[in-house]
Amino acid sequence: MKKNNENMITLDVNYMMSDGIGYQYGIDAAEVDQMAFAAQSAQHAVEKARGTGWLGWTELPYNQSAVLDQIEDAAAYVRANFEAFVVLGIGGSALGPIAVQAALNHLRWNELEDRGGPKFYVEDNIDPERIASLLDIIDVKKTCFNVITKSGRTAETMSQYLIISDLLKKEIGDGWQKHIIATTDKEKGNLIKIGRDEGFRMFVIPDGVGGRFSELSPVGLLPAAVCGIDIREMLKGAAAMDARCKTDDVWKNPALLEAALQYLANEGHHANIQVVMPYADSLKYMADWFCQLWAESLGKNQTRKKMPVNCGQTPTKALGVTDQHSQLQLYTEGPFDKVITFIKVEKFRKEVEIAHGCKDFADVAFLGGKTLNQLLDAELKGTEFALCQAGRMNQTITLPEVNANTVGQLLYFFEMATAYMGELLDIDAFNQPGVENSKTASFAVLGNTMESKYTEKAKEMQEQTAPVKRYIL
Ligand code: PA5
Repeated sequence: MKKNNENMITLDVNYMMSDGIGYQYGIDAAEVDQMAFAAQSAQHAVEKARGTGWLGWTELPYNQSAVLDQIEDAAAYVRANFEAFVVLGIGGSALGPIAVQAALNHLRWNELEDRGGPKFYVEDNIDPERIASLLDIIDVKKTCFNVITKSGRTAETMSQYLIISDLLKKEIGDGWQKHIIATTDKEKGNLIKIGRDEGFRMFVIPDGVGGRFSELSPVGLLPAAVCGIDIREMLKGAAAMDARCKTDDVWKNPALLEAALQYLANEGHHANIQVVMPYADSLKYMADWFCQLWAESLGKNQTRKKMPVNCGQTPTKALGVTDQHSQLQLYTEGPFDKVITFIKVEKFRKEVEIAHGCKDFADVAFLGGKTLNQLLDAELKGTEFALCQAGRMNQTITLPEVNANTVGQLLYFFEMATAYMGELLDIDAFNQPGVENSKTASFAVLGNTMESKYTEKAKEMQEQTAPVKRYIL
């Protein structure tokens, strides 16, 4: 076992700073010092409210131990009895499971013959071709479905549930319920009631844990355990990061420094976009998970005191090195509106040597004998250097290696940074009112008359300006 500090992820912000990329481009250390008090208040606010309201997720590294045995039991049951495990969920009920499985398992898990667990699928869309294609390749009689929805009523997830339960009833008949595990709120929504009626095995998403903050609850822990991931170590990693967030010193608490710098970058330095760019395929989907967390939490139109704002830094994702050949031109020469956040892995789980050959072609032959690891690292350094020379803010989060502990740290780091950022912006980082309007409108389109809000919305939609023909080609 590694010593604790050897397994710690680090945040290197040298090239966010004017010391690193030039005074006209970077953030001055004095600006951070000026924010020290606001940062301190943000840290105090989070600490004071931890475990209460929508900050229930802060306690997940500690309070899940009671259900870990049950999760591991269920995982063992699934591993022993099914060929495939399918998550039906969307948003926070899907992105975490995808990110963690991709990070911690074989990159071609489903194709691997001796993977020692079921194939794993996360169905986070309702594209009819997608579910149809899934049903073409799985045998529902040998599949376990994990229906995950905090609200217990998300239309996308519940539609999938209806399709799958109908199929299970037809194909299996008695005992079809054994193919479903429900993960939901302990009382709100429909799924808990359906689950009780049907007798599904169920897991509860604790109070105060919103979808995008739920990866360290049964939402993420069960799928991870089914795929053989050490969930206890993930929680330990999260707790280790939490310990580093106990200080209110902005220069010592990594998540607080991250929030302060992104706040300054966004508010004072026009960097209203953050590109998260892992240099590791295993962390590719971590960027997707982060994008939801940052976007849905921080994109708000009013402060907590109901003052109008339109805040939020736009998160986006890229993959090193792939997107060097797609996006980097924009990052180095386009507008000064971005921060690039590299996620670097110090030690990969594999080392691949590049074979010698092509001796008559010097610029190919020179690669022989080096490793892909060295090449990847060199390209990351090259990209970082190019960005710095172009005066572009960038920072690096380094994982000593990708393991359950460092992934737990990374998840918790981003969650804490998001909570601090919410405090700095004085907004509610835990709601998503902007998503509601679209949901209500969709239900109105489908003719739902169960609640007056749908009929009212239908009227509003009828009053919408009719499309002008000449704008449609
Ligand atoms: O973060 C959130 O709360 C949302 O993105 C939800 O995760 C998403 O809308 C799915 O909701 P639910 O888990 O209730 O089905």
